[in-house]
Amino acid sequence: MNVSTAEFRRVAARIADLAADYLDDLGQRPIVPAISGAELDRLLSGKCPEDGLGERALEALEGVVQHSRAQNGRFLGYVLGSGEPVAAAADLLASALNQNVTAWRSAPAAITVERAVVSWLAQAIGCEGFRGSLMGGGSMANLAGLAMAREAKAAANASGYRGGLVYASEEVHMSIPKAVALLGIGRDHLRLVPADSRQRMRVDLLDRAISEDRAAGLVPIAVVASAGTVATGAVDPLAEISEVARRHGAWLHVDGAYGALAAIAAPERLGSLALADSLSLDPHKWLYQPVDVGCLLYRDAEAARRAFSATGDYVRTTTSDPVEGFAFFEESPELSRRFRALKLWLSLRYHGLSAFREAIRADLRHADALAERVASEPKLELLTRGELSAVCFRYLGDPELPQGDRDAVNESLLAAVDRAGRVYLSNARVGGRFALRACFTNHRTSDRDVDAVVDEVLRAGAAVSR
Ligand SMILES: Cc1ncc(COP(=O)(O)O)c(C=O)c1O
Repeated sequence: MNVSTAEFRRVAARIADLAADYLDDLGQRPIVPAISGAELDRLLSGKCPEDGLGERALEALEGVVQHSRAQNGRFLGYVLGSGEPVAAAADLLASALNQNVTAWRSAPAAITVERAVVSWLAQAIGCEGFRGSLMGGGSMANLAGLAMAREAKAAANASGYRGGLVYASEEVHMSIPKAVALLGIGRDHLRLVPADSRQRMRVDLLDRAISEDRAAGLVPIAVVASAGTVATGAVDPLAEISEVARRHGAWLHVDGAYGALAAIAAPERLGSLALADSLSLDPHKWLYQPVDVGCLLYRDAEAARRAFSATGDYVRTTTSDPVEGFAFFEESPELSRRFRALKLWLSLRYHGLSAFREAIRADLRHADALAERVASEPKLELLTRGELSAVCFRYLGDPELPQGDRDAVNESLLAAVDRAGRVYLSNARVGGRFALRACFTNHRTSDRDVDAVVDEVLRAGAAVSR
């Protein structure tokens, strides 16, 4: 298994070439490759070779590239960052260094870089002084944030869960019910508060729900506010929610996986994120990083230690130096952790925060441009524009069509648009209606790409309703 450094250079150079070739013709690639699951299985699965193929093993990478979904400027599905290439290159070095980012003594440079990056992020979104750590994504950050809330408000680490409730709007991301289930709070103890006509949590109903529960002797653990709902990009009113949460003694967790990083460019759209006790944000979404970098920020490191510290003797740090004694495993659920921070650190240093600010502003402009074009097309209907970069709309087709049929038309249309491979949209439900959804978290999107969305939808709409 020893590879000479000459061999490593050849392998790394071929992989870098492959990646560069992919990026070179990203704009022309079909977003969704035309291959069936069974064919792809035949191509890439098979038996694990008993004898190594050496550098011939690299040949199969062509197939992986060719049949990957292309993240070009017209990929506007879900909430997905576009994969900034300098960060991607840094990932190779991170793996070669193979640092285990547990504690300073195991990974001095990596710990320093991660702590720096976390404080840069906190500062950039107006949460100066917050601490935190990088995680696999927003779902993990939401889970960890709610674990902190549970330990702070209804301590369970020692003897298990003994009651308590979590509140969130009905528009909340699925990672919240999942976290509530995993933490043993139970989905039945998650109160889904109705949203208003702009998909934002109704604070009056939140207040009423907590008041009624408290009158019945129940404990409010946490309120989860969304700083960008996944479907429409609605931002819950943070200041009012914070006031209600504090008055009732509940923790405030902000799910900012989609939207919090937009505060770098347009803080007025988010309100004060610093009101949160804990906050998730996702550089692999709206900071364009390659997947696998989310972040949890929190105001009080002691609360993180209460939730996560369970140090065994085999990892105990032996110094009281505040820098060299630092251990992430005292403040986060993981022990072995990869060097996620390197890509983000390099990417921020390479481009500068202002480039990211500009890219986020461009996303917001592209969302406005799409909303305007949709509103001006008689065959399309704008359903929501939200505060962030998601636009929900639908094809109207025959004005006489009943609602159910219109949903079906739009569902087929979406499948046709995505299959054609020039534009990729996803879907949402808005007011009970099936919506086409474009979400701009993509540094490659151009004005022409925005026009392509409308052209593709009109083309597919005409074909589907024929
Ligand atoms: C609002 C919101 N919260 C949480 C998540 C989960 O983030 P991740 O996919 O990084 O786990 C998402 C993902 O789209 C999201 O939009």
